[in-house]
Amino acid sequence: MSVRVLQFGTTGQLAREVIRQAPDHDVALTALSRAEADLADPDKAARRVAEHRPDVVVLAAAYTAVDQAETETLLARRVNAEAPGAIARACASCGAALVHVSTDYVFDGAKGAPYLPNDPTGPLNTYGLTKLEGERKVLDACPRALVVRTSWVVSAHGRNFVKTMLRLAAEGRPLNVVDDQFGRPTSAADLAGFVLSQARRLADAPAGDPAFGLHHFANAGETSWRGFAEGIFDLAYGDRAPAVGAIATADRPAPAARPARGTLDTSATEAVFGVTPRPWREALAEIVAELQNQTEASPA
Ligand SMILES: NC(=O)c1ccc[n+]([C@@H]2O[C@H](COP(=O)([O-])OP(=O)(O)OC[C@H]3O[C@@H](n4cnc5c(N)ncnc54)[C@H](OP(=O)(O)O)[C@@H]3O)[C@@H](O)[C@H]2O)c1
Repeated sequence: MSVRVLQFGTTGQLAREVIRQAPDHDVALTALSRAEADLADPDKAARRVAEHRPDVVVLAAAYTAVDQAETETLLARRVNAEAPGAIARACASCGAALVHVSTDYVFDGAKGAPYLPNDPTGPLNTYGLTKLEGERKVLDACPRALVVRTSWVVSAHGRNFVKTMLRLAAEGRPLNVVDDQFGRPTSAADLAGFVLSQARRLADAPAGDPAFGLHHFANAGETSWRGFAEGIFDLAYGDRAPAVGAIATADRPAPAARPARGTLDTSATEAVFGVTPRPWREALAEIVAELQNQTEASPA
């Protein structure tokens, strides 16, 4: 029988990719929109788990407005910490495994090397703090929870760095991009593929299986935001790629501080799950091609 997967989220980058790829896997997916399960009402949202009695729950929705979280702290905490905690309790009581997605922003970025899952955390902003609180609540409540941290998520949908860069270039705007923050770009499609490929194992694995606990998933290769922008323009424009100027984080003040190098080490996750994330440029090429196809397909 197919693995019954209940996903929170339908419109986000990850949520859309899980929905898109689910038919390629042996899963029966139900995805709940914000209208069907508002994470700002954690107990009500968590009741959906008991109603559906899934084998695996995927928490793909979150409060992701990093700068806005500095002022909307209570809402960010309810969505990113209290709701995951309530959903994790519901999973534990009905025997479902849980996949909860977290972020490199739980780290302060000062380690000077890629972060291992059990490295000390130290979020620099409210978003990162609420995500860290969510991780802890999930792991405390549900022994069969996989908390997968990821970074710099992009896709052909929603709001993300790839789409912003291509829009700025199309508008002929000057391109000056932060060159002193480093990380691992991650395709939402690759993250979704990873989650779906593990659905059967997660459904069947007992508590204590190394699949559960803290893991890191990101595409391979580290770059700066400027290096990422150059990669996008190389793929989109080839020889006609616009020049990208380098600026420092200090030159572009933002409400929320960001880690200088939150790069995730994925080696333990690769070993436990037998997966090898592909290089970010390879994944990016598919996203850029999809965006170009969308543009060609849209009416003039
Ligand atoms: N994006 C990144 O660069 C990044 C980096 C590291 C980790 N992550 C983590 O990866 C996961 C997936 O991120 P993503 O990039 O796919 O997110 P996203 O594209 O920003 O989408 C967020 C989703 O959460 C939903 N949502 C927000 N508030 C909600 C609420 N109160 N109730 C129900 N749904 C709500 C949004 O719904 P609406 O469409 O209705 O607003 C949207 O579907 C998140 O846990 C995020 O923290 C993301």
